[in-house]
Amino acid sequence: MRVAVVTVSDRASRGEYEDLSGPAIEALLKEGYGAGVEVTRLLVSDDPEPLAGALDECAGADIILTTGGTGLGPRDITPEVCRRWCDKEVPGIAEALRAHSLTETSSAMLSRGYAGLKGTSLVINLPGSVKAVTSCTRYLLPVLPHAVKMIRGEGH
Ligand code: MTE
Repeated sequence: MRVAVVTVSDRASRGEYEDLSGPAIEALLKEGYGAGVEVTRLLVSDDPEPLAGALDECAGADIILTTGGTGLGPRDITPEVCRRWCDKEVPGIAEALRAHSLTETSSAMLSRGYAGLKGTSLVINLPGSVKAVTSCTRYLLPVLPHAVKMIRGEGH
């Protein structure tokens, strides 16, 4: 399974702080799937064109996990860019992530994260914090291989 992790953060992309969420997702994927997963990571600012460019670079990945830019801030544009980039919506994943996260914090309702398909790539928006990506990635781990099989037409 090929997974691309895209961190969307102005400050991390400017080097003002270290991106901790992208590496946290990568570590959890490797812990969960071992040699069964190949992970690439990208880091972009909260700007539509760089993000769309990063998504284009991920073409061929089975799963594209983004982190950050899902909130209500003026620069938060990750869901809009991903929605435009995808050709099918997968609302259940975004709904499930919010429902899961709401069991941990009421602030989860502030994440506008989107999930959709572009060709055979499944795009899933995660919030930006390490705490959020740790919880959401753990929650997704058992489901992603099944999703990839379905997308490849190997499902039931
Ligand atoms: N989801 C989980 N599981 N844990 C969290 O701590 N933080 C919330 C929410 N979702 C959070 C969470 C907060 S505080 C915000 S503002 C939104 O995600 C959006 O985060 P983002 O703008 O970094 O994407």
